[in-house]
Amino acid sequence: MSSKIIFDTDPGIDDAMALLFAHRSPAVDVVGVTTVLGNASIETVTRNALYLCERFKIDVPVHQGAACALMGGVDDYPTFVHGDDGLGNINPSNPEATPSPGSAALFIVQTILANPHEITLVAVGRMTNLALALRLEPAIATLVKEVVIMGGALGSNEFTGNVTPVAEANIHGDPHAADIVLSAAWPLVMVGLDVTMQTIMLQAQTQRIRQAAGEMGEFIWEISRFYENFYKGSRGTTGFPMHDSSAIAYVIDPTLFTTRAGAIRVTTEGIGRGQTIMAPTGSRFPAGDWDEVSPSLGCIGVDTDALLELYELTITE
Ligand code: BDR
Ligand code: CA
Repeated sequence: MSSKIIFDTDPGIDDAMALLFAHRSPAVDVVGVTTVLGNASIETVTRNALYLCERFKIDVPVHQGAACALMGGVDDYPTFVHGDDGLGNINPSNPEATPSPGSAALFIVQTILANPHEITLVAVGRMTNLALALRLEPAIATLVKEVVIMGGALGSNEFTGNVTPVAEANIHGDPHAADIVLSAAWPLVMVGLDVTMQTIMLQAQTQRIRQAAGEMGEFIWEISRFYENFYKGSRGTTGFPMHDSSAIAYVIDPTLFTTRAGAIRVTTEGIGRGQTIMAPTGSRFPAGDWDEVSPSLGCIGVDTDALLELYELTITE
């Protein structure tokens, strides 16, 4: 049986690759897409989500979500990572479709209430829409099947942050929302930099996908050129990390990952803003800020070869 997911996203080059992965996988049934600012403004990421759904015939509603973080504030968008258009400067045409009525948070709430214990929420942007949905209807915490987020880092490998030494972008962009989402009493899995920075798609594989997957393969090749160049320029590495696709891979096959259980909190202010800190289950500390927090799972290991092969097979088959 396939997993019904709501895909909460800020497309975003790796978001686009992840949406196509989910769409192509027989193990996943995308029931809706919700957008959140992050890699670009809310208008741009929503346009991109509609464009992707239209071009690749992903027949689901797209609901526009948060235009700013919970505490407000003005944003600088990472155009140097995802391009001015959020899709590697391919200059996508404007889609005919418009967003479905109702906010992202409302759609999340209504869909979970209508399908108790069936919906997996996959969030690969800031956690703002999920925090707003919890605020709107706290009961979704007990009615959702699972929450899988791409974000954060536990420092189990050498990777502790990508926008500061201790913070990952999706968490840093709205740390207050992330702390609400990670503290909530729902079954949550954090797919963070610990595993996504190990999972690098090299150019030879992107080339194979380009050659074997028709229009979709060409599109993946096209959008990922900008992304690959960014990583080459900023880190001197080849290829690019499969951040958001790793969250989809977890939904398809959780056995690809090893996890650690514990309560995760987020630092919301100061130089540690956006840091995700786990108190592993069973660890003993004096009474503290993790005590009332329900435990989550954090991914600390991944079979990278199997994940990359799963992506390629899913897109090309
Ligand atoms: C995350 O930040 C965004 O730029 C990517 O789309 C991904 O969700 C990686 O830190
Ligand atoms: Ca993203």
